Amino acid sequence: MKRAKDYIIFPLDVQSAGDAKHYIGLLSNHVGMFKVGLELFIRYGPQVIKMIREMSEAGIFLDLKLHDIPATVRRAMESITGLGVNITTVHCGETPEMLKAAVAGSAGKTAVLGVTVLTSVSVSDIKKAGFENQYYSDISKLVLKRAETAKDAGCAGVVCSGLEAKMIKNSFGKDFLAVTPGIRPAWSVGEKDDQQRVTTPASAIKNGSDYLVIGRPIRDAKDPVSAAVMTADEIESALSVY
Ligand code: C5P
Repeated sequence: MKRAKDYIIFPLDVQSAGDAKHYIGLLSNHVGMFKVGLELFIRYGPQVIKMIREMSEAGIFLDLKLHDIPATVRRAMESITGLGVNITTVHCGETPEMLKAAVAGSAGKTAVLGVTVLTSVSVSDIKKAGFENQYYSDISKLVLKRAETAKDAGCAGVVCSGLEAKMIKNSFGKDFLAVTPGIRPAWSVGEKDDQQRVTTPASAIKNGSDYLVIGRPIRDAKDPVSAAVMTADEIESALSVY
């Protein structure tokens, strides 16, 4: 049975193994998964995966957002799968062949998620990047188009904003995962940051999100454990309603 805390993915967006260790120790019993991104993986490589496994029973999400020619992506995915992580990512703004290669490389052992449109991207970013009017007037159309490519290629789900999770579930069914970063609880104290398409934990759950990536609101809180517990409580209340 999935508990409220299992919905929380905490990104280890820190610069040192010591800091990563600190947060793993603090949060192991309060989150479902730790996410390792480029920042930590480039510095420490597979050692950091080993460290998490030794310290915690939480799942591991290796978020490397692959984007390259299909042959390279396939081989990179084989290496990722060899690390025994639960979830990993590939960008879905490229060809279906690249996504199919990622899925083939994972051999059904690691869930591959397609990154649709980063939650830090706004309408004006899409416009400046030269996309057609239909996409910058409504980013969700671009998210949907990319999610469809991911679904057709056999991905387990997508990374999208909590605002878009409902549309993803309605279009591709409840088993197609919606993993949502850009979570900003009403109580979070940080300044406005780079995230644009944000939502609260409760509304992400209401929209059908399967996992909530929540970093800075927990990491930068005075008491990260209480922040994680408050998030899980909010998730629990939302789950009991929806
Ligand atoms: O909660 P916070 O904004 O700190 O979380 C940021 C994390 O979410 C980063 O690790 C970032 O890579 C990840 N992420 C994102 N948008 C995506 C995919 C992942 O912000 N579309």
